[in-house]
Amino acid sequence: VMESLKGINSGRLQVAVASTVNYFAPRLLAVFQRRYPGITLKLVVTNREELVQLLDGNAVDLVLMGLPPKTVEVESEVFMENPLVVVAPPDHPLAETRGISMSRLAEEVFVMREKGSGTRQAMERFFAERGLSIRHGMQMTRNEAVKQAVRSGLGLSVVSLHTIELELETGRLVTLDVDGFPDRRQWYLVYRRGKRLSPAAKAFREFVIAEAAGIAAPTLFARESKPSERTP
Ligand code: PGA
Repeated sequence: VMESLKGINSGRLQVAVASTVNYFAPRLLAVFQRRYPGITLKLVVTNREELVQLLDGNAVDLVLMGLPPKTVEVESEVFMENPLVVVAPPDHPLAETRGISMSRLAEEVFVMREKGSGTRQAMERFFAERGLSIRHGMQMTRNEAVKQAVRSGLGLSVVSLHTIELELETGRLVTLDVDGFPDRRQWYLVYRRGKRLSPAAKAFREFVIAEAAGIAAPTLFARESKPSERTP
């Protein structure tokens, strides 16, 4: 693998990731760092809006995010699936219901991320495309806060499956079986068009494209939300 890059053992690399990517980015960095121990890697974690600003200002080498920006000229490549799911507390009245309609879902109140969030943007688009509006509950700037709020009964939310793997495993949150969900999005590796990638950046790019899904793809989804497809 990556024969030509095996010799890299120095260099600095600045990677910025969406706050949702943060749930698996450290796993990728651990494998990468073991392979290239000489590369000094700096990670920035922030929301979509700020990632776009970092790209625009040429302030980082590479970005991992939910959807490439349209306002900055970039190169982008898909590296993994990013299913968005409807998340609820385990005792929610709809927790056991199959095939919940979107119009029924829209009667619920939703805990929202902040305006600059890519997750929020995707959620708003999903509802708008179906002619539905979202009943906004509280707004919060962190995935962790959203998860705790949902668990506490403040409302439902739409989140990347990557952010709730542990909660699904421990049964603290459940996904609802809503028509149209999971919303099958993808993760992208993005950099400014025309940027000359350093050898370290090239090595990271190749690594993410080739191996990220094998290391970090979420495994719980089929089991949690599609009981009919459960394997014995
Ligand atoms: P965010 O991340 O919701 O933290 O902005 C997701 C994305 O970039 O799509």
